[in-house]
Amino acid sequence: MSLVVRPVCAHELAGAEELVVRSINDLTVRHGFGPIAASRSPDFQAFCLQDDPRGVWLAEEDSEIVGFALSWVCGRLWFLAELFVAPGRQGQGIGNELLDRTMLHASKAGATEQSLITFAFNVVSQGLYVRHGLFPRVPIHLCSAERESLMRHAQGSALRATPIRGTADDYKMLRQLDVATLGVSREKHHRYLLGDPRTEGVFLEDGGECAGYAYIAATGHIGPLAVMHAHAMPDAFRAALLIAGAGHAKQISVFVPGTNNALAIAASQGMRFALPMVLMSTRDFGDWTRYLPRNPGFM
Ligand SMILES: CC(C)(COP(=O)(O)OP(=O)(O)OC[C@H]1O[C@@H](n2cnc3c(N)ncnc32)[C@H](O)[C@@H]1OP(=O)(O)O)[C@@H](O)C(=O)NCCC(=O)NCCS
Repeated sequence: MSLVVRPVCAHELAGAEELVVRSINDLTVRHGFGPIAASRSPDFQAFCLQDDPRGVWLAEEDSEIVGFALSWVCGRLWFLAELFVAPGRQGQGIGNELLDRTMLHASKAGATEQSLITFAFNVVSQGLYVRHGLFPRVPIHLCSAERESLMRHAQGSALRATPIRGTADDYKMLRQLDVATLGVSREKHHRYLLGDPRTEGVFLEDGGECAGYAYIAATGHIGPLAVMHAHAMPDAFRAALLIAGAGHAKQISVFVPGTNNALAIAASQGMRFALPMVLMSTRDFGDWTRYLPRNPGFM
């Protein structure tokens, strides 16, 4: 039995994502959260592989996938979207091997800041990342509620939403919002989201001025959401909740950083904290009072 760590082909992504789902559910069941992941089409993974294959790695033994890692780069930011090892093969150095390969992606791409979002209750992943220079910075809660119950609790003012149409001016505005909140442009990721027919992208306006943007998926999931100024976050978040609430999803969900005042709104409107996560990074980066990540992989 010999372990091979190698680049990934597009047709292998579905198998890799099956391993990711197994690994997540094994972890969350062990920690009392029950199985939380279900198989999905690896659309974002395929987008990242096509955009920059240097960040996508697979560990294989006897033709079986035993580990998978995926990172993306925007400007000076390298982000580890996924690092997963098969349940029976953890603690044997495979995660470390995969992490070393994806971190080479950061240096090859000239990214000077490194970040990721992991499970707040996983001491193994956090220990591994700390040994590679990434430290826990910001707690993040996955919040969720039944749509009907959330709408019964809806209260307070909300910003006006207008569709993002994908014009050159729209991309300029998205760039300004991302640079202000995260320090880097994520234009390619906006192109990905705006090309997804199951996701609605809106600008949020305050007195005729663009104050931010939000994406709301048909599944009822909110994010990413960004605002130019932190004081706009409550009305921006309520606007996104109203759009999600007007859809047909059974559940509404969103990842909210602990430093963000959307967390108080989520709690006061009856949302439950379903999964504690933590953002880790080499240095402080991003203003999490002004940004709600989409999920631990997209950020
Ligand atoms: C996290 C994960 C990818 C790591 O891969 P792995 O193959 O198990 O990890 P490795 O064997 O390469 O390295 C484990 C390292 O964790 C660290 N570690 C383990 N337990 C630790 C603890 N209690 N405290 C601090 N560090 C710890 C050690 O540094 C250890 O390395 P060492 O054995 O050389 O000292 C894997 O365990 C996994 O898939 N877990 C479930 C899913 C998950 O949480 N993924 C991360 C998503 S961001």
